[in-house]
Amino acid sequence: MDPVISIQSLEKTYDNGFEALKKVELEVISGEILALLGPNGAGKTTLISTVCGIVNPTGGKVTVGGYDIIHDYRKTRQMIGLVPQELHTESFETVWATVNFSRGLFGLKPNPEYIEGILKDLSLWDKKDTKIMQLSGGMKRRLLIAKALSHEPTVLFLDEPTAGVDVELRQDMWRVVEKLRQNGVTIILTTHYIEEAEEIADRIAIINNGRIELVERKDELMRKLGRKQLTLELREPLQSIPDNLADFNLELQAEGSRLVYDYDATQSHTGIAGLMQALSEQGIAFKDLATRQSSLEDIFIDLIKESS
Ligand SMILES: Nc1ncnc2c1ncn2[C@@H]1O[C@H](COP(=O)(O)OP(=O)(O)OP(=O)(O)O)[C@@H](O)[C@H]1O
Ligand SMILES: [Mg+2]
Repeated sequence: MDPVISIQSLEKTYDNGFEALKKVELEVISGEILALLGPNGAGKTTLISTVCGIVNPTGGKVTVGGYDIIHDYRKTRQMIGLVPQELHTESFETVWATVNFSRGLFGLKPNPEYIEGILKDLSLWDKKDTKIMQLSGGMKRRLLIAKALSHEPTVLFLDEPTAGVDVELRQDMWRVVEKLRQNGVTIILTTHYIEEAEEIADRIAIINNGRIELVERKDELMRKLGRKQLTLELREPLQSIPDNLADFNLELQAEGSRLVYDYDATQSHTGIAGLMQALSEQGIAFKDLATRQSSLEDIFIDLIKESS
């Protein structure tokens, strides 16, 4: 459970006086996939850019692999691969030359087999001799990933890697991420597709207004904050919720034809048996029922609402 990245009281105030990071504390565990979630403008890119040495912090301390990001910048940068949010890739160079050049920038010996492997994993191999400027948007994003991996980083930052990409690239990307994870690479990603985070992340960090609101193991978060809902489609619509059902957390929807019961699935007494009995005493019949578990997205929206 060693932290590979340790962020202490990190602050960033931009030149115009805007406080984008407010005493951020975060430890990233070696080998984990951490999803950094937050609304637009929350400070995700600022945080990532600071750890990568692109944005200068105005306070606090960050270490990567035990090295300080300012005093040992070359060492920390060497360990990090960054797939940036913005695409700035217009060039007459070919894919092959660009990715090999990126590796060279870190002072590593050429390793054509390794680069070939990356390009194949990212379905870019057949474009290796194509000029960057002739790639499509999705291919440019693949190229950014290939560049970020060119120097065999042990920590990979993916800032909105799947924004605006097609299903195939997403799947390629998650395959690559899974392979990297198996090789022990630590991965920090931001995404607005919360179901992706729900699927692949080990831990979730939520940032809002420059503050880390929460860091938690995903399964723990789902267990603690996850709620379940039982929906009953009634045979006959109800005008209102009968008195003997007032103790249950019920809501009438769809003009009285649907009864929704919110309950805590982690409790041993969910109240469902009691609800069923009370319904039958009232002669309320239903024709269908469904249960639904709250998703990470529901949890995220609730947390962001609470804190703003
Ligand atoms: N160079 C800058 N100068 C001043 N303010 C900035 C600068 N860069 C970012 N900001 C502000 O800092 C805040 C955080 O921006 P950041 O890009 O980190 O957000 P984000 O969480 O990555 O958002 P998104 O989900 O839209 O990518 C925003 O309010 C933004 O306007
Ligand atoms: Mg961003």
